Amino acid sequence: MNQSIATLKNELIQMVEAANDLSALEHARVTALGKKGRITDLMKNLGSMDPEARKAMGAALNELKDEIATLIEKQETGLKHQALNDRLAHETVDITLSPRPERSGHIHPISQTMEELVSIFADMGFSVAEGPDIEDDFHNFTALNFPPGHPAREMHDTFYLPDDPDETGEAARKLLRTHTSTVQIRTMMGQKPPIRIICMGRTYRSDYDMTHTPMFHQMEGLVIDKNTHMGHLKGCLMDFLRAYFQIDNLPVRFRPSFFPFTEPSAEVDIGCSRKDGGLKIGAGDSWLEILGCGMVHPNVIKNCGLDPAEYQGFAFGMGIERLAMLKYGIPDLRTFFESDVRWLQYYGFDPLARPNRATGE
Ligand code: PHE
Repeated sequence: MNQSIATLKNELIQMVEAANDLSALEHARVTALGKKGRITDLMKNLGSMDPEARKAMGAALNELKDEIATLIEKQETGLKHQALNDRLAHETVDITLSPRPERSGHIHPISQTMEELVSIFADMGFSVAEGPDIEDDFHNFTALNFPPGHPAREMHDTFYLPDDPDETGEAARKLLRTHTSTVQIRTMMGQKPPIRIICMGRTYRSDYDMTHTPMFHQMEGLVIDKNTHMGHLKGCLMDFLRAYFQIDNLPVRFRPSFFPFTEPSAEVDIGCSRKDGGLKIGAGDSWLEILGCGMVHPNVIKNCGLDPAEYQGFAFGMGIERLAMLKYGIPDLRTFFESDVRWLQYYGFDPLARPNRATGE
């Protein structure tokens, strides 16, 4: 009898050790220890044995059962360990890759354009200033030489906030800024000349069509110093426009205009051609208005507590969407704010690319 147990034992050990995956091992377990397994079968015979033999056989079978169960467990641990090592070897992950290349984000054309503007003006020695979106009448109009009741106030289609009972008087009346020129005032009142800043941000006017949205972005520039003149204004803006559109001989034209806060004032046009419904910037016999500018009005300088006999300067303002539309061929302003992911995939920019993609610098 012991002889047959020893044979069975060898057989089962071989079978367990030969199992080289988890399903083969499970098969071996059922064969040895299952309800109809080899060891279980022998146990069923115990009842017909005489007590002495049964005792010896029972003990031997229990021992065998424990031994085989332990061996199976050991084999299972080994196989699982090996399976994990195999997976780790095959499923290597390059953690430097984009997790979902098909879904990688894009930089919105407004952000891209702002980065380009900052980089151009930073090269010219400008720093970036900021001001709040919710402004008051003083900063948006009065200090900028729009006297109360001045018709130019009406051109701005201003969004006014409900009256604040704590604040009294017209100057404190809250509104959403209609232009970034408010930051001219805040900067001149807050720091000493020489001043050389740009400011970019949201502006608001109650208007909506192909070329107007109630919220849009502007960039403002302000230079204040002792000997600043119109030649500086022209040179600065021509350099800027040529750098931004990346056209060295871009035609630039200054056309007399009016803003309450600048005198003289000008609107600036760039040369373009319009053929077959297409628009090409840089050459041709047509002009495209691109920004407003002028020498800061002496009243504005005075309103900010500076002496206009000592300080002069220039200012300019432009729409950031318009700059982006012209450079990147985006036809409809309203699409900027629709948050359509297909639009962003098409017009957006690679987050890892350098700001000026036109030259591939
Ligand atoms: N603030 C003017 C506008 O919104 C633009 C401008 C800024 C003009 C600075 C001249 C100087 O239309």
